[in-house]
Amino acid sequence: MSAFPDPEVVRRAAAEAGQDQVFRFWPRLAQAERRALAAQVAAIDFPLVNRLARELVTGPAARKAAPAGRVEPPVVFGMPRTGAERALFREARDRGESLLRAGRVAAFLVAGGQGTRLGFDGPKGCFPIEPAAGRTLFHLFAARIAALGKTYRRPVPLLVMTSEENHDATLRFWADQRYFGLPPWNLSFFRQDMLPAVDDAGKIILESPGRVHTSPNGHGGSLSALAKSGALADLMRGGFEELFYFQVDNPLAEVCDPLFIGMHALAGADMSTKVVKKTDPAERVGALARMDTVPTVIEYSELGEDRSRLRAPDGSLLYCAGNAAIHMLRVEFVHRVTSDPAFALPYHVAKKQCPAVNDLDPAAPPLATAGYKFEMFVFDALRHARATTALEIDRAEEFAPVKNATGVDSPATARAALAARERRRAAAAVAAAGAASGAPAGPA
Ligand code: UTP
Repeated sequence: MSAFPDPEVVRRAAAEAGQDQVFRFWPRLAQAERRALAAQVAAIDFPLVNRLARELVTGPAARKAAPAGRVEPPVVFGMPRTGAERALFREARDRGESLLRAGRVAAFLVAGGQGTRLGFDGPKGCFPIEPAAGRTLFHLFAARIAALGKTYRRPVPLLVMTSEENHDATLRFWADQRYFGLPPWNLSFFRQDMLPAVDDAGKIILESPGRVHTSPNGHGGSLSALAKSGALADLMRGGFEELFYFQVDNPLAEVCDPLFIGMHALAGADMSTKVVKKTDPAERVGALARMDTVPTVIEYSELGEDRSRLRAPDGSLLYCAGNAAIHMLRVEFVHRVTSDPAFALPYHVAKKQCPAVNDLDPAAPPLATAGYKFEMFVFDALRHARATTALEIDRAEEFAPVKNATGVDSPATARAALAARERRRAAAAVAAAGAASGAPAGPA
């Protein structure tokens, strides 16, 4: 059997799908370019792409609908106030620690995104974020994983999801950094799937005469990527029960926080979420809510201005549980959903600038054109969970995402948050040492 798909078969499939414009430069392509294009197009799921284009771009229902269903605020564990709540938190932390000591928890970092808003040349994880020492995002997470291994005397495996766009660069970076001292056998890197972007007419965009423009299929692609890559099977073979999911852009993420692990485990939850309190209703972060009693994250744009401004009698915002994009996932849950042929997360569409071949001068650099990218979101898996929990965290301690090059959620704000946390921790350590020695805390 040939390792290359038959170009004629692939061209016929594209033509049948109404997408044969991807072959419009075929006559001028060199042999190697033809092979590459045929292989790339052969991997496209045309029925899926055409359905998404119809439903989300060209069709009459393509405009974003308001959530259909009864929307209510979520149930969230806030900071403990009563003795019973404090006891529950203690029990949860103990449970989380015992799972870590027993080697039942793995860390799962999703780093397949394009990071277009940050505009950094390279995988976002290679961005130097630490204020003084300049350690990168990857380095900070690796240091945390190493520290966990020491504390609990059990190494915590780290799974890193990349995408075709940044996989090689990510691997090179980790290898160049000698895996930051972590044992390579405890690390696993795998790619998520890619999807083509389409134009206003639902036609797949070519970025060059011999290449379709694709983008990663969203962080929701992480569940199927775990299964397809074999990482999930490895976890199950190794006796791992829980996955701590976090995103590469939050340097404050308290990776494998035992309290969160324990709350999730005590509740027998399939999937759990950390939330930060939204103080400004206009903050552009998805809100955890319940839709017809089922936990769900509603995007800022879908929640609507009126609902996002609703307040409880005590004046607090009703929909204030901002999704911090930190989750616990039960390994068995990921296995259950990904082995169900009927399981699918919904796709969302984003209109973004895409590189498109210049038809008048195909050899010239691509032009920027408006295109539509399709993505799945991991939080949509919440509705498949039989049980869930949500834990409110202190934003100053655990949440400072790096999204934009400047302004809000930028390296500047994340560095300020890291520095402030460092100062608080140093002060707390001094105070604790003072208390232990009986000396008064603070400067002499
Ligand atoms: P964002 O939604 O912020 O997207 O990702 P992004 O691609 O990093 O950045 P922009 O929108 O292009 O500026 C949140 C987290 O989800 C991961 C990212 O790597 C980041 O950790 N992600 C996102 C994936 O792993 N895969 C994706 O397809 C999308």
